Amino acid sequence: MKTLNHCSLLVIFLLNAIAFGAESDPSFSIQSSKKAITFSRSELMKRPDLTTIEVESDPAYNNGKKTSYQAVPLLPLFDSIGVPADSTIQFHCLDGFSAPLDGELLLNRNPKFSMPYLAIEPKGAKWPPLKPGNAATPGPFYIIWSNPKASGIGQEQWPYQLSSLEVKPSLRETFPAIFPEKALAASHPVNLGFKVFQKNCFSCHTLNLQGESKMGPDLNVPMNISEYLTLAAIRLQIRDPQKLRTWPEAKMKGFSKEALSDADIEKLLAYIKYMAKKKVALLVK
Ligand code: HEC
Repeated sequence: MKTLNHCSLLVIFLLNAIAFGAESDPSFSIQSSKKAITFSRSELMKRPDLTTIEVESDPAYNNGKKTSYQAVPLLPLFDSIGVPADSTIQFHCLDGFSAPLDGELLLNRNPKFSMPYLAIEPKGAKWPPLKPGNAATPGPFYIIWSNPKASGIGQEQWPYQLSSLEVKPSLRETFPAIFPEKALAASHPVNLGFKVFQKNCFSCHTLNLQGESKMGPDLNVPMNISEYLTLAAIRLQIRDPQKLRTWPEAKMKGFSKEALSDADIEKLLAYIKYMAKKKVALLVK
């Protein structure tokens, strides 16, 4: 009984500490294989490079809303860690969304092109909820872009509820099993489709069990999606998932023609069908 009391007191204490910590001063971290740094909201809000960024069509709100955020440029936060030119930056979010971002996009310093910022939810002034009637917002940290069209930033490249960023080696070194064979020309539809996959699907789906997302099913193993869904069904799943199957807790959002053209979907399907012949062996216990 005594132990139980102690335990429950400890649990209550810890829960309070977590709730209090998260409420009062949330933080996020940047890691590499050598180092990790943590930034708290209060520290970030005091930075001299804090600015206001207007977003014309905000992916967190289904591209419908014009929003304005207090934000700091993302690149300077990497100063003490360093970003080698061919590295991949992996986002980790509180909801299991996890996408690699090409280091080159992060390293861009030309304001004519897109630049990433870290938007910070101010203390005591929560952003509007992601969905009506649900308290969750894109905060406390959300990656947004200035001038997103200039570098063709896609809707999946705006991770919200960010928990950490990780500097990793090149994508090929980190996830070799998602790559088509080297012999294929860069302009081959399979390689073009591979780019479409990286930008739009890899944040939520692994392929050949590679990738970091825990949200959606693997698209290649045990079965490739083209082995049990018709191509027409996959196209529907991409455009408007609820038209294929419908249930309230479904998490995949559709891609409008503006977000993903018909031509890009066909390239993506070329990659998906190609990868059906490149399955990794599953480690079944
Ligand atoms: C925001 C996360 C997210 C993104 C981005 C996303 N998906 Fe999904 N997808 C899911 C989830 C989660 C499911 C499981 C069903 C659900 O909850 O909607 C799913 C289901 C699917 C299915 C059905 C698989 C099955 O066995 O039932 C297919 C096919 C699919 N996704 C393909 C894609 C493709 C191709 C892309 C890129 C164009 C993509 N998804 C982008 C989250 C996502």
